Amino acid sequence: MKQFVPVNKGPVVIKEAASSNTISDAYKDSITIAYQFIDSVEADTSFTFCGRTLQSPIMAGPIGGQKKIMEDGQLHYARAISEAGSVYWTDYHDINAWETILAEGIYGLRVIKPLADLDEFIAEIRHDEQGGALAFASDIDHGLTVYGTKDGQQKPFAPRTAAELKQIVQASSLPFYLKGVMSVHDALAAAEAGAAGIVISGHNNRFPCAVPPLKILPAIRTAVGDRLQIFVDGGFNNGYDVFKALALGADGVLCARAFMAAFAKDGEDGLTNKILEMGAQLKGAMANTGSPDLKHINQDALILP
Ligand SMILES: Cc1cc2nc3c(=O)[nH]c(=O)nc-3n(C[C@H](O)[C@H](O)[C@H](O)COP(=O)(O)O)c2cc1C
Repeated sequence: MKQFVPVNKGPVVIKEAASSNTISDAYKDSITIAYQFIDSVEADTSFTFCGRTLQSPIMAGPIGGQKKIMEDGQLHYARAISEAGSVYWTDYHDINAWETILAEGIYGLRVIKPLADLDEFIAEIRHDEQGGALAFASDIDHGLTVYGTKDGQQKPFAPRTAAELKQIVQASSLPFYLKGVMSVHDALAAAEAGAAGIVISGHNNRFPCAVPPLKILPAIRTAVGDRLQIFVDGGFNNGYDVFKALALGADGVLCARAFMAAFAKDGEDGLTNKILEMGAQLKGAMANTGSPDLKHINQDALILP
């Protein structure tokens, strides 16, 4: 009997199934803010991440392709993020650029692929510990392909078990973040393993018909309480949507495509300005909802669909 053989190893766009980005964007847009002007306050957006103070809880998510935009693109990208007082979450591929970024003292961490060989995975963590990374992460949604078959680029990947997550946490003194969490189940596994936090992420349409990150966020926050820092990504392009995520229980957001678009259009300065602009919009949303700081965001200001 014949077996289905996937031909596309990259992110799969399945036209027959609903696009998760479309579902997620529609949900995000359907949430609105009931501004409250009486008792408006000056707002402080500063945020502490891995012991460092950032201008806002808006960080750069992993996305490739900077090299196609300019020479040493990844380095310029990281410098732009640093200029804006933010953090660079990078991807797996260009180790030379990553080492230069760390050597410059730019705040960053790497999202390491879920390598099947745990020793190799831990060796990657050691490399980043020595280089001065703030933390490390892994995109746990990449263990298998969307078809549930084996995945991997130069090296095979594998789904992580709860026991392996504990081993990973115990292997390093750096905080560990799981990226690609989309369920209470996985969030609880992260908390029980002792991870520092999670990124609720649909990984840019990787899985069809996926729940919008903002829709599952409140249930995850209720389940894990304060045991995890929770970040969210998926189509964040302005500070008002960031406010919605924070009011629903997130500690911060990652932006990948919006930052890449700013960098492609206006280079290093363009990206710095984009991050600062989103921070200013967040500050405005906080001020005009009576939210003095991130810990006291006024959740009543959000109107859900
Ligand atoms: C071209 C491209 C490359 C990406 N590469 C990675 C990657 O290597 N590792 C990862 O965890 N996520 C990767 N992502 C997913 C993003 O980090 C992010 O989860 C997703 O794009 C949703 O955020 P956004 O809407 O702000 O782009 C990639 C996304 C794009 C568009």
